[in-house]
Amino acid sequence: MTNKIELCKVTDVKLGEALKIEKEGLVLAVFNIDSEFFVTDDLCTHGPGSLSEGWVLDDLVECNFHNGAFNIKTGEAVTAPCTEKLRTYQVVVENQLIYILI
Ligand code: FES
Repeated sequence: MTNKIELCKVTDVKLGEALKIEKEGLVLAVFNIDSEFFVTDDLCTHGPGSLSEGWVLDDLVECNFHNGAFNIKTGEAVTAPCTEKLRTYQVVVENQLIYILI
């Protein structure tokens, strides 16, 4: 069964930025790329970096710990030292609220 989890309002996440959300045991980063919303795990797969505190450039997020980077849309690790894919989530926006389906 699919679980639909409400994360935040669309207005909570500024354009080109990310917001850290903790819900139901998950620690997530919600990204606003050109007013489209994407959700990944917040924890970098390389170490303790919080990706919501990283730098967003187009559809990439660079971890502020060792400067590895991921594609926000696919979770692919694109820059060393990151090699392990980041978990991404299916996002639904309804009535100005952002949800993930898991
Ligand atoms: S913890 Fe993110 S690049 Fe090392």
